[in-house]
Amino acid sequence: MSELSVDHLLGIKYLNKKDIQLIFETADHFKEVINRPIKKVPSLRDITIANLFFENSTRTKLSFELAEKRLSADVINFSASQSSVKKGETLIDTVNNILSMKVDMVVMRHPNPGAGVFLSQHVNAKIINAGDGAHEHPTQALLDSYSIRERLGTVTNKNIVIVGDILHSRVALSNIYALKLQGANVMVCGPKTLLPKYISNLGVKVETNLKKALEWCDVANMLRVQNERMDISYFPSTREYAQQYGVTKALLNSLDKSITIMHPGPINRGVEITSDVADSDQAIILDQVENGVAIRMAVIYLLASKIKH
Ligand code: NCD
Repeated sequence: MSELSVDHLLGIKYLNKKDIQLIFETADHFKEVINRPIKKVPSLRDITIANLFFENSTRTKLSFELAEKRLSADVINFSASQSSVKKGETLIDTVNNILSMKVDMVVMRHPNPGAGVFLSQHVNAKIINAGDGAHEHPTQALLDSYSIRERLGTVTNKNIVIVGDILHSRVALSNIYALKLQGANVMVCGPKTLLPKYISNLGVKVETNLKKALEWCDVANMLRVQNERMDISYFPSTREYAQQYGVTKALLNSLDKSITIMHPGPINRGVEITSDVADSDQAIILDQVENGVAIRMAVIYLLASKIKH
């Protein structure tokens, strides 16, 4: 039986192409399961999973919890507000708690980049990174690619543009790694101040003109401006940002083709995307949410199968 090349899901950076294929094939199976009248399988009855969220989350947390419950795992939850987290101290505490609770797997969202790596070095549990600061968000990138594959048949050779706040986005970095691994052509687009200086070193095209980016792409992944990660002003006003980098129906209609629109959520309607675009047939935003559960079931299942009791 095939298995993942990694013991933890800390970032897409650590995966290979075969890992992604295996996760997608496993997710295909679970997607079928979650559309049955009885949406549950007994696969992980002997596994305990802790969801540790040190940063706010709606869909990612719900999605993981649902995935775990549909696999019949025992689930415990911990949430802390961002302000109460101090680097180091809290993680060491976390480590000790996990060790004494005999948890098999930890899903963690944390504001510090590398928090998952740190945890994986100190506890004897499988770790899934559910977002570490502005670094990586691997399950989001996996569900994004899976949703593109579902809509367009494949990710390979497709032109994908990631639009918006690339600088502060863990979704952007994980998506770049995942898409490149699968042979997609990747572009980032946004105001210069929100594009990291050396981003082209990752093998992506860089564009500051949204219309040109949309003319080039098959898929546009629209990111939220991460105001909570900004201590200075990166653009004059939200209104100006929306005018230059917001996707509107008029803009989409001005293209000579129909492109697919994605968004990881939460959406700021009227900023990076207008409501008529978000709710249109071109958008696969809710498919992404549905696929998120199947992808997370696949990742959890595949990592759990590497646990030696
Ligand atoms: C993203 C996140 O938290 O990184 N959302 C998500 O996980 N669905 C993106 C965002 O917050 O804009």
